[in-house]
Amino acid sequence: MRAVLAGAGSLGRGFLKRLRDRPAPVDLVGVLTAHHGRMIAPEGLEPSLALNLVESEGLGSSAPDDFKQVIEAVSPDVIIECIPQNIRTGEPALGILRSALDAGVHVVTANKAPIVLGYRDLLHRGAKSRAQFRFEATVLDGLPIFTVAANLFDAQIVRVRGVLNATSSVVLETIQDGSTRSRGLARAQAQGIAEADSVLDLDGWDAASKAALLANVWMGGALRVVDVARKGSDEIKDDHLRAAAEEGLRYRLVAEIQKNDDGNIRASVEPVALTPDDSLYPLRGGRGGITIETSLGHTHTWLQESHGVDDAAFGLLHDCRAILAGLSQV
Ligand SMILES: NC(=O)c1ccc[n+]([C@@H]2O[C@H](COP(=O)([O-])OP(=O)(O)OC[C@H]3O[C@@H](n4cnc5c(N)ncnc54)[C@H](OP(=O)(O)O)[C@@H]3O)[C@@H](O)[C@H]2O)c1
Repeated sequence: MRAVLAGAGSLGRGFLKRLRDRPAPVDLVGVLTAHHGRMIAPEGLEPSLALNLVESEGLGSSAPDDFKQVIEAVSPDVIIECIPQNIRTGEPALGILRSALDAGVHVVTANKAPIVLGYRDLLHRGAKSRAQFRFEATVLDGLPIFTVAANLFDAQIVRVRGVLNATSSVVLETIQDGSTRSRGLARAQAQGIAEADSVLDLDGWDAASKAALLANVWMGGALRVVDVARKGSDEIKDDHLRAAAEEGLRYRLVAEIQKNDDGNIRASVEPVALTPDDSLYPLRGGRGGITIETSLGHTHTWLQESHGVDDAAFGLLHDCRAILAGLSQV
């Protein structure tokens, strides 16, 4: 697949490293950033060169500023988008995704905001041009939950409960282990998993964004991030967190989404003291997990034993492979 990578920060660079280090069915023909240059290379671009440039003098300015002209110049098969989420408008990512799908170019994104705000519109555009958009890296990184859920056949997902934000987990666990909030945040930042704006993680916005995304994709909802009842990890005082640790409780920011019999969807994010019998209790550090309940009465729990930038990069590649394999749109 000829691919343009939009965004080469933590995740974009993790993706370039994966392309550099392991065989993948992806030929890079462009890399776009905001402040580290924009390069196109219709004949192909070595991932190691792109990585070196973005980490040193920058990528230069061979790519046009207008994204539609980038598409015309390099005729990509797929756009891989890793731009910071803008939970209010979804921009500039939403515009990029729309332009790609309208031009019949597949989209793989790690960015929740455009999916929350534009899922149905993007589905419609993709269906018209026969282009797919996939987004495994948006929730639980490389765990292919959307691909699995799309193959549950006649089972509808009616309830979801999950630990979906790694940074708040690292911060809460660090405090419960006796250290400080700022040290916890520094740990998450060093792992490259924190959002560019850490308020998104700690105040629950990122988890709320994922909850809205799951409600819209899995339950046919039309939730915005502000429709999710939200309490952040800072709502629980350090003393309380440490006392809970002594009782063997693990605090995590837990997202819950429920579709009621009348079709209404309720979604919330709040810090919860997990007890040892909770299916999400085994999660340590920034690891995430999710429990889904279906209309047929089945319950599935997926726990992700690893987490980090490489898992998210794997999620992006999973989506590329799914498109190449002709899997149906999720
Ligand atoms: N990091 C993770 O582990 C992870 C995991 C799953 C999902 N995600 C999602 O992936 C996205 C990126 O996360 P990140 O941690 O990689 O963020 P990041 O480190 O802040 O990197 C963002 C990148 O996007 C570029 N960018 C910003 N505006 C752009 C534009 N208009 N056109 C092209 N490039 C633009 C930035 O360019 P400059 O650097 O030049 O400013 C930077 O290269 C977010 O939506 C995040 O939620 C991240």
